[in-house]
Amino acid sequence: MIYPIWLSDLYRAHKEEYMEAFSEFFDAGVFIGGPAVREFEKNIAAYLGAAEAVGCGNGTQALELALKAHGIGRGDEVITTANTYYATARAIVNTGADAVFCDVDENGLLDPDLLEALITERTRAVLPVHLYGLCADLDAIREICGRHGIVCVEDCAHALGSESGGEKIGSRSRCACFSLYPTKNLGAFGDAGFIATDDPELAAKMRRLRYYTSDPERLEFQADGMHTRLDPLHASLLNVSLRHVEEWNAVRRRHRAYYVRRFQGAVPYLKKMEEPGVVPYVFPIVADDQKAFSDHLQSRGIVPQIHYRPDLHRIGHLLPGGKTCAAGSLPRTEYLNAHVVSIPISPTVTDEEAEQVADAVLDYWRGR
Ligand SMILES: Cc1ncc(COP(=O)(O)O)c(C=O)c1O
Repeated sequence: MIYPIWLSDLYRAHKEEYMEAFSEFFDAGVFIGGPAVREFEKNIAAYLGAAEAVGCGNGTQALELALKAHGIGRGDEVITTANTYYATARAIVNTGADAVFCDVDENGLLDPDLLEALITERTRAVLPVHLYGLCADLDAIREICGRHGIVCVEDCAHALGSESGGEKIGSRSRCACFSLYPTKNLGAFGDAGFIATDDPELAAKMRRLRYYTSDPERLEFQADGMHTRLDPLHASLLNVSLRHVEEWNAVRRRHRAYYVRRFQGAVPYLKKMEEPGVVPYVFPIVADDQKAFSDHLQSRGIVPQIHYRPDLHRIGHLLPGGKTCAAGSLPRTEYLNAHVVSIPISPTVTDEEAEQVADAVLDYWRGR
């Protein structure tokens, strides 16, 4: 089978470096926090061009921590999209705030033209998702947030390394929240995440809040504090992976260029994928029949991925009072959720495999 990514292959390619870091981790004898975590936070902030990075347990908790650090909770509203992983909305709901869903543009990204109409006196944040590695229109979203005095917290789980306007996602953000889930562009060997920020004071506050407190020394516990830590074992190995992430992202871009060349005019895919700054996390194709296309790929030994089902605005427990939005209320979101199928694109997909994937995709479209 051709999998979206196979992390053990990356381990094998750099085995000596990983084993050296592993052995240093045991020799250091620090199993919570410590220098490996600090080093990773410094390294990843430098990679992104951010002032600071704050490690945490996973991407869901990164989002929750970022919102809580702004005092967001019960009675507040946070606007996001509904064609994202459940975690995006769940993080909002975990704070006690209500998730409000905005429809997306033709590339599946929060549509700034529809945003302002959703802002109420309860809105405290907008949470765009840089889905598939595509960058949401931050200039427009930030301008709207600035005018309304609300914060922009970004879900960057799919977008490590992607650039918008020549700058990496997360380089100039108030809060750019990343998941380091193993399949991501920078994947840990387990669960991990972090928040990049341009504000050192906010970073310090988030470091305290991730240990439940407003002051870890004096154990001043906070009701909205969290328990979310980046393990030093993961940090040690991530410090190795980070040395290679640019080569891995270059392979993603090479496969993207190849798919675009093969599919031009023949297969519908999200057009923004062609932007040079994008590091594709997956390659989303807009299929006429999601199930038939997925089955076809599977029959050719290719693992398809669907991002995302079910529609988040139709899940009762994510909405106030369990009242789901009507079907058809977010037409673009619903269309994309029902039609997009992603094909593998990653550093562990070989050029020969990318060719097999492209052949299988083109055969489906020829056979229709
Ligand atoms: C778009 C998006 N947001 C948030 C998350 C949550 O990240 P984690 O699984 O690390 O909690 C994911 C993870 O898959 C994701 O894809």
